[in-house]
Amino acid sequence: MRCAIAQNWPAAAPDGLVVPTGEVHVWRAWLTSSAGQLECLARVLSTDEIARARHYAFARDREHFIVRRAVLRQLLGSYLAVKPQELVFCYGPHGKPALPPSRYGQPLEFNLSHSHGLALFALCANSPVGIDVEWRRPVLDMEAIAKHYFSKREYTRMAAAAPKLRQTVFFNAWARTEAYLKATGEGLAGLEGVEASCLRGEAARLFKTGTDPSTHSPWVLRQIRPAAGFTAALVYRGALTKIQRWTWSDAYRASGPRATQATNPTAIKPKYSSMGPSPYAGSVPLLGQDLQNVAKDTSSC
Ligand SMILES: CC(C)(COP(=O)(O)OP(=O)(O)OC[C@H]1O[C@@H](n2cnc3c(N)ncnc32)[C@H](O)[C@@H]1OP(=O)(O)O)[C@@H](O)C(=O)NCCC(=O)NCCS
Repeated sequence: MRCAIAQNWPAAAPDGLVVPTGEVHVWRAWLTSSAGQLECLARVLSTDEIARARHYAFARDREHFIVRRAVLRQLLGSYLAVKPQELVFCYGPHGKPALPPSRYGQPLEFNLSHSHGLALFALCANSPVGIDVEWRRPVLDMEAIAKHYFSKREYTRMAAAAPKLRQTVFFNAWARTEAYLKATGEGLAGLEGVEASCLRGEAARLFKTGTDPSTHSPWVLRQIRPAAGFTAALVYRGALTKIQRWTWSDAYRASGPRATQATNPTAIKPKYSSMGPSPYAGSVPLLGQDLQNVAKDTSSC
């Protein structure tokens, strides 16, 4: 079963990163990194991103932020043929990052999510997109959280599920609802009135879309299986024809996807090609230098 999951997320992307309208490209990446890699990755971040990284109290959170921002920049840069460090983001009223409209010549939309050291990145053209991943961890007050935050139907269905299935139902409801709220950009502020299917084996779909005036607009919800132990969901607006999945590998870290592909796509050796236990379980190195001193010079990376 693990093999089947891993085969669905190949490490090498096809030549020429282009996402046609109607498709969503989903990339997954583990967020652990060696200190050397981390310093290289930090060099593609903007000054405000470095400042944000410095605000994380825990080294692990700081590292994960740096890696996911750097991966995001490398991915977007590869699709747009722009250097990762030259990308500029703008932010929606609730903090959703985006590319400034018309700045890069093509309407690339994206969203990302992370949990327990795994990040998912969704990229598409011409449609809002939202993605959420959750590590299915034990939640002590699961029932109380569901009662407070879930819709009545979601809560009732979770409470009626066999005890061993409750966690699955809980994280289905959570990830699917949050993916929608991230597609709209509302974030958790828009939670009221959003409702998704959540039972095990039930097709992923949205029953209600809260304050969105176009309640019957074609928001599409899909379940994503990123790795054993994780639940994820993707929301896209419009006719979704295909979801492509790839693993962002360490081989990309130094030079970015474009350069790696150009060299030899078959030579890419993903560090975590078989999705065994999360590498998050291992020790996480600290960044060996003050982030404030990270220069923009990427020549040694
Ligand atoms: C969006 C939100 C649901 C994500 O929560 P989460 O489960 O902790 O985090 P996830 O890993 O799934 O997603 C985080 C990523 O979503 C993106 N994101 C941030 N705000 C977002 C929003 N409003 N909509 C969609 N995506 C958002 C960012 O890329 C972020 O990654 P980063 O931490 O590297 O910047 C939550 O942060 C939220 O509700 N934010 C809104 C806060 C708000 O309303 N603020 C008002 C004043 S700005």
